[in-house]
Amino acid sequence: MKTVVCPGSFDPITNGHLDIIQRASGIFDRVIVLVAVNQEKKCFFTPQERVEMIRRVAEEAGLENVRVDSDDGLLVNYIQRVGACAIVKGLRAVSDFEYEFQMSLTNHKLLPECETIFFTTSSRNMYLSSSIVRQVGGLGGDITQFVPPCVYERIHQKLTAGKGSK
Ligand code: PNS
Repeated sequence: MKTVVCPGSFDPITNGHLDIIQRASGIFDRVIVLVAVNQEKKCFFTPQERVEMIRRVAEEAGLENVRVDSDDGLLVNYIQRVGACAIVKGLRAVSDFEYEFQMSLTNHKLLPECETIFFTTSSRNMYLSSSIVRQVGGLGGDITQFVPPCVYERIHQKLTAGKGSK
């Protein structure tokens, strides 16, 4: 059974992430979407909220071999724990490459049997990122085409709740 881990911040999951997860789910036996928790990074959604959103998105997309988890440790330790053979990541543009290359080489140094597989993003999602979604949404722009409907609902709820508490 070939298991891969698709790690990220997912703050929040976008249609671009979903596309990569769907494509990985069609190739591998099991895909674990891992919300990597970085205590030093201030995120819009809590790890639990991000996990719940991804679970709902995967369920609505009918991705039965996709599991969702979170972890605050080293990625390669998680990979070893779950017996995964590779890390799956999406590459949008040349600007992503240097950072992804560095992470891939570091992970390979730390755990030589762990490969990183890059999926080139679908052209329709090349411009898309979680930070763009947060920025456009926060300024009242239309983000319905950037994220799955249930994620849009959660962003809208959170932004509305934030305004109410000021
Ligand atoms: O979506 P992001 O923020 O670009 O994802 C980066 C992520 C979560 C994949 C990376 O920061 C990571 O792997 N974090 C886990 C901790 C770790 O192992 N760091 C060393 C990576 S070389």
